[in-house]
Amino acid sequence: MQNILIVGHGAREHVIGESLVNSGAKLHSFMSFKNAGLEDLSEGRIKIHSETDFKEIVDFCKEKRIDFVVIGPEAPLVIGIVDAIQKHDIPCIGPSIEAAQLEGSKIFTRYLLDKYKISSNIQSKMFRSIEGVESYLDVVGNENIVVKPDGLTGGKGVKVFGEHLFSRKDILEYCQEIVSGKSPFIIEEKCYGEEFTLQTFVDGKNVIGTPLVQDHKRAYEDDTGPNTGGMGSYSMEDHLMPFITKNDVKLALEVIKKTINAVKAETGVNYKGFLYGGFMKTAKELKLIEYNSRLGDPEAMNVLPLLNSNFVDICWAIIDGNLSQTISFKKQATVCKYLAPEGYPTNPKKDQQIKIDKKSLNNIGAKYYYASVYREDNNIYTTTSRAMGILGIAEDLQKAEQIAEEGVKCVEGQLFHRKDIGTLKLLQKRIDHMNSLLNK
Ligand code: AMP
Ligand code: GLY
Repeated sequence: MQNILIVGHGAREHVIGESLVNSGAKLHSFMSFKNAGLEDLSEGRIKIHSETDFKEIVDFCKEKRIDFVVIGPEAPLVIGIVDAIQKHDIPCIGPSIEAAQLEGSKIFTRYLLDKYKISSNIQSKMFRSIEGVESYLDVVGNENIVVKPDGLTGGKGVKVFGEHLFSRKDILEYCQEIVSGKSPFIIEEKCYGEEFTLQTFVDGKNVIGTPLVQDHKRAYEDDTGPNTGGMGSYSMEDHLMPFITKNDVKLALEVIKKTINAVKAETGVNYKGFLYGGFMKTAKELKLIEYNSRLGDPEAMNVLPLLNSNFVDICWAIIDGNLSQTISFKKQATVCKYLAPEGYPTNPKKDQQIKIDKKSLNNIGAKYYYASVYREDNNIYTTTSRAMGILGIAEDLQKAEQIAEEGVKCVEGQLFHRKDIGTLKLLQKRIDHMNSLLNK
């Protein structure tokens, strides 16, 4: 049996761990906060310690004779966890520090796409101070912009005019706030369209796409309320979206392949690991909204459970640079609904007990993944972040959504979720939105 280590502690890591175990791994977990699901899957082979303390991670790998490590979250990737571990001849799934800049620096990504003439780039300008912002706004117009701090912000740093910023004063204040935090930022053209996530496996040269997913960032139904880490996501049985064509996916994959080649040309480094493309289909063309150097959360829950292929073998193929097109996914739809503590994200109720009826979940066929909860005396309690993801898988979206909803009912506590995610009503709204843009 192979000893495989997962680094990270959320629902994404829980589903990665599950996929590794289902593919025959003897799992070990290194996490800054104890995930009860990973603790169980690892049968107690865990270490609770900072995920950015590379020396401790390397020592743990040596002690447990780890065959390879999978890095879940972005924070350790952008500061070089892969380089630190590989120095000790321990293989790792994840990009090295230079390649992880695709997520770590929005300035790097826009520059790279521009320099290597890769389509789908968005017009943007970088600033290190507030100087020049007003004259740039005079040219492009306040209402046509998005402000993005350069580095990682946990999905909460991007502010869009009309959604978070409503006047020039708002824009300038936000730019000033970013500068005061010593970060450069970009002002980017605001695009209109439907977003989708294309997660890929990358071995340095080959890029294998996984089923498309759509995430929901807003806290409340009908895409209202504050931005969150993501309230849920769905994928369709044909692995597309009704408003995204096969050709769109082909184009998106080409953009990703060209980006990998550009990373190599620019830095000399092969991109290896998972690469998440956040795309938007607009009336005119496909736009690259962001890259993430890891799987998505919640999107990992939509794709990994659909794998027909052995996930441990896929990881070895990433390491060895011989990924092939034979990786396959079940032709099923998925709906993931996140349960979050009441009040999340602004004023979440923490330390509230959650009761999970695992037997009923099992009978319904719903899967569950722990995000940010803790276990004490065999009871599960909330923290200030999303608590757990409930996943429905079925032959079509409607059935997958019903399973997820039924699954949600098996969890008792002061929690809320978005009932509309994965419903045909919300899907139709997306289709109508895309059609209205295309027919303008
Ligand atoms: P990011 O963290 O880059 O994914 O941005 C968070 C969210 O902001 C995205 O999922 C989009 O909904 C929105 N966003 C980011 N960039 C743009 C853009 N250029 N135009 C319109 N919306 C954007
Ligand atoms: N679902 C968004 C992310 O993983 O960043």
